[in-house]
Amino acid sequence: MKKILTVIGARPQIIKSAAVSRAISQKFPNQLKEIILHTGQHYDENMSQVFFEEMSIPKPDVNLQVGSGAHGSQTAKMIEGIEIALNEYKPDALLVYGDTNSTLAGAIAASKIHVPVVHVESGLRSFNKKMPEEINRITCDHCSTLLFTPTDQGVVNLKAEGFTIDADGPYTMDNPGAFRCGDVMYDNSLYFEATANERSSVLKDLGVEENEFILATVHRNNNTDIPERLNAIFKAFLDIANSSDKKIVLPLHPRTKNLLSANLDPAVKDSLDRCQNFILTTPVSFLDMVMLESKCSMVLTDSGGVQKEAFFFKKPCVILRSETEWVELVENGNAIIADADEKKIIEAYRALSGKSDYTYPSYYGKGDAAEFICDKILTWL
Ligand code: UD1
Ligand code: UDP
Repeated sequence: MKKILTVIGARPQIIKSAAVSRAISQKFPNQLKEIILHTGQHYDENMSQVFFEEMSIPKPDVNLQVGSGAHGSQTAKMIEGIEIALNEYKPDALLVYGDTNSTLAGAIAASKIHVPVVHVESGLRSFNKKMPEEINRITCDHCSTLLFTPTDQGVVNLKAEGFTIDADGPYTMDNPGAFRCGDVMYDNSLYFEATANERSSVLKDLGVEENEFILATVHRNNNTDIPERLNAIFKAFLDIANSSDKKIVLPLHPRTKNLLSANLDPAVKDSLDRCQNFILTTPVSFLDMVMLESKCSMVLTDSGGVQKEAFFFKKPCVILRSETEWVELVENGNAIIADADEKKIIEAYRALSGKSDYTYPSYYGKGDAAEFICDKILTWL
């Protein structure tokens, strides 16, 4: 039996981890043992606990409860706690997802004491190093021994940084194994769609009907923290909500909620409060999110995960950023980059509403990425 220690902490990686934990329990229960460490980066019930329950993720063996904080202090506390856990549990490898501070902390803690790092969702790049996630993902990739990239663009990016795809082992940090494996988020969307349809009452709860609403999310630090950008995004939302017959549903990330009153102009806030077509709600569970994504008419988002889920459920997407790691969505016309620019967001919404010739190539695999990852880890170990 081989032992891996999985580090999770933020909402999207808790969700991603469900796919691999499921593959371990269904296909490799006698070969792989998973120890789960939750850094505590996200801690509200609706940013963490809800996913464990709904997606049957095993309860974490360790919770560092680091909570929120500045990058340095938050990451440092995580590194300290992860190192202690690595010394206690002595896993054969450490598994991390994506590009958050929890990912970075796991990669640094493990690589420094020579525990091999497995990075799921490697190779993604925005080519914008002012984005905290870009620093996290580059550093993590270069500390990793096994790298799993979801897309062809990920392969291109890894090759450009000197990685060889499908190289021969034995794998080490200096001779890493890099593989294209598809996207674990796609595994989850396929797996949970039917359950969401059966169990979620979110449409009724929010008073919206299929195709009669747009789903929006906003949480990127350069959108929430820069008042001009936050105001431009919400003014565009107001324009769309007031001028179309669609409602906008916005499950609000706690970061955005905390900054709304400080950074939103009182006049914009007042218009939002009075707008009948604008539905602000707390973060929703994954099943509710799948329901909203699969029944909306369009998605407006700055989230990495939500951009892709829009595509999985065949919905067009306006990207509220100046670039994306998921370039295939833009190249294929499924998404438009509109940045935090009021005019561009409205134009992108109209352009995507008027378009009908959408196609959905299988950019993200076949829904078996998690199984591929477990298989490769086992062969390597
Ligand atoms: C983090 C990740 C980001 C990811 C996002 C997913 C980093 C640097 N950023 O951003 O890549 O896209 O998670 O959602 O790791 N807060 C709460 N309750 C919580 C969690 C957070 O109130 O349960 C509030 C706190 O005020 C906190 C703020 O949200 O300061 C930001 O949280 P943090 O985890 O630092 O970054 P995110 O913006 O969530
Ligand atoms: N998500 C959710 N509830 C919400 C908003 C998002 O379950 O209210 C899910 C979403 O379906 C996706 C993941 O959270 O699987 C994306 O996380 P987030 O947008 O926080 O981060 P990012 O992907 O940008 O790192």
